[in-house]
Amino acid sequence: MTFTFVTLFSNLIEGYFNDSILKRAIEKNIFEVKYLNPRDFSLNKHSKVDDTAVGGGAGMVMNPQPLFDALDSLKKEDENVYIVFLTPVAKPFVQNDAKRLSNKSHIAFVSGRYEGIDERVIEKYADEVFSIGDYILTGGELASLVICDAVSRNIDGVLGNSDSLTVESFESELLEAPSFSKPKNYEGLSVPSEYLKGNHSKIRSLKLALSECKTKFFRPDQLKKHNI
Ligand code: ADE
Repeated sequence: MTFTFVTLFSNLIEGYFNDSILKRAIEKNIFEVKYLNPRDFSLNKHSKVDDTAVGGGAGMVMNPQPLFDALDSLKKEDENVYIVFLTPVAKPFVQNDAKRLSNKSHIAFVSGRYEGIDERVIEKYADEVFSIGDYILTGGELASLVICDAVSRNIDGVLGNSDSLTVESFESELLEAPSFSKPKNYEGLSVPSEYLKGNHSKIRSLKLALSECKTKFFRPDQLKKHNI
């Protein structure tokens, strides 16, 4: 699988793949990461990539030309590339999207900076458009990393233990039950005694009850959505 980040600021992204699980996945050739800078395609003599908004409005908007040319070159190289735009003006990204996108062979994430991207670019090239939440970031780079991380851990072989995928929050309608590590007692704080007794069916029912409590407390909307 290939992830291509279409961004003016690849240095904001690169470091994330230099450690831990995703670094190992790249070393095992499970996926590769590439970068494409729209500025390299700008026909402006100063390599400008943005301009003031037509019709007025604050801030600069990314011009169509560098992005049209960058994305055309990407599609010419790989006609199957799936192009995802990151903007707060979009549907929210959820776990089901992460699973679905993990079956693509090549995803390109297009990050806007400044006040956004000329709408004609999105109209022409977007296979899908996502927001990662109801807040405004300074650019799409963090959002593209969030989505790339969530997608990549669903690709076969990225996680050491694929069981960890099936019990996670959002894999069912409930948030995941709390986890504990060792020691069993730390500074007078003990893990729930049921976790210690080794009766797996009892542990399962306790975990289910705790999942329900967590969901009711933190995400009552989830319970309503699934009629629980
Ligand atoms: N760019 C700026 N804010 C964003 C958000 N919330 N989600 C995706 N892309 C963004």
